[in-house]
Amino acid sequence: MLETKTIDTTFYKLPLIEVRPLTSDSVKLTFGVPKELKVAYRFVPGQYLTLRSVIDGKRVSRCYSICSSADSGELSVAIRRVKGGLFSSHAVSQFAVNDVVEVMPPMGQFMLSSDRKGSFLDIGTRSTERGTTLVTERCYAAVAGGSGITPILSMITTVMSVEPQSHFVLFYANRSERTMMFRDELKAIQRQCKGRFHLVSIYSDSAETEPLIHHAVASVLEPNTTGLAQTSADIIPPNLKILLQQLPDLMSADSWYLCGPQAMTDRLKQVLAESGVDESRIQRELFTADTRESVLVSPRDEDKSELCSQIKVIFEGLSIEFHLEQEGEVVLNEALKHRDDLPHACQFGACGTCRAKIISGSAVMKENMALEDEEVEEGYVLTCQAQPTSRVLALSFDE
Ligand SMILES: Cc1cc2nc3c(=O)[nH]c(=O)nc-3n(C[C@H](O)[C@H](O)[C@H](O)COP(=O)(O)OP(=O)(O)OC[C@H]3O[C@@H](n4cnc5c(N)ncnc54)[C@H](O)[C@@H]3O)c2cc1C
Ligand code: FES
Repeated sequence: MLETKTIDTTFYKLPLIEVRPLTSDSVKLTFGVPKELKVAYRFVPGQYLTLRSVIDGKRVSRCYSICSSADSGELSVAIRRVKGGLFSSHAVSQFAVNDVVEVMPPMGQFMLSSDRKGSFLDIGTRSTERGTTLVTERCYAAVAGGSGITPILSMITTVMSVEPQSHFVLFYANRSERTMMFRDELKAIQRQCKGRFHLVSIYSDSAETEPLIHHAVASVLEPNTTGLAQTSADIIPPNLKILLQQLPDLMSADSWYLCGPQAMTDRLKQVLAESGVDESRIQRELFTADTRESVLVSPRDEDKSELCSQIKVIFEGLSIEFHLEQEGEVVLNEALKHRDDLPHACQFGACGTCRAKIISGSAVMKENMALEDEEVEEGYVLTCQAQPTSRVLALSFDE
């Protein structure tokens, strides 16, 4: 049974046992996990690893969602090169078998689990007793864009293997079939799990503009079709609304998982909510944040001269102290100048790697897409987003 564990922010050195190109700009990496670390690297489908490497003499860490099935015994991620991207370019062009990469154990709240705390096998679902066997029968739905397929693939392969009565419907948007990551794997699952896995592919670069809706309906209703919907990814949200009306089973899907560009997933969340899908059944993962100003939460409206500048950060029992000179500056940016091994990855408030607890003083977060309300109530903040609101602020990564 899969379950979550206490957070371990140690970077362990793992060897690459397989490096497999997926497309011209993406690669799948599989890590060898020694026996003594197997428990530390157990994961719930949807979670990610934080990888760290020295690139051009600088330590660089980034998050990558696990793409392997939770019951496969394999630990893999897939990385797509981002134009001008430091880590992704290095990974796609340089990583080779036997290279050793620093890898933090799995983290993240985007999980194949409606309670988002424990095993996805434990959640209350449509289960029926058949003899002595508990047969779980759920319907999962997901929308992925580009490299956003990685956590979803882990979910699909795990569900297909662990819940033989469950269904999974995937809408997968790419520029073209050529740039589609895991194309062969998805088609193979479709063949092997006829009637249980439904794939609707959307290609935005296609010359044809056949409406998505007809293909989508055909794909979901007729399991043997490939479900090619050659149209623009932009039309997914409005057409999903129509689709939900036509397919009541989809409407009552137990869980929705969204992973793709922020604008697309924002709109999808809205469409699902308008269609009556309860917010608690929708989970979203972002790989990067769109540039935006509106969501920023400003520090409390108080005398700016009262804002603190003296910061103490504790990590692995050692403390560093520094001043924040600039108003609005976040703690992590300055802290990294003093210790570059502080846990962090995305730096836009999505991954939760930089979580620390306030020991004294107060702070506000510009953005929080990672911490639960209870964690915030307990005094945790994302240091990449934390701006002090007291004269002195002490934070610990060790709590
Ligand atoms: C929880 C989580 C899971 C993730 N899982 C995956 C995964 O499974 N596979 C994967 O390929 N990536 C994944 N990412 C994205 C990954 O962590 C990096 O952000 C990405 O590889 C770019 O890093 P870089 O060092 O190459 O680019 P950087 O050097 O950091 O950035 C270079 C430029 O690219 C822009 N940029 C950064 N990230 C993206 C992006 N994702 N898309 C478009 N532009 C971007 C930056 O704004 C910057 O202008 C995930 C991110 C998060 C937070
Ligand atoms: S580094 Fe990802 S939330 Fe702060």
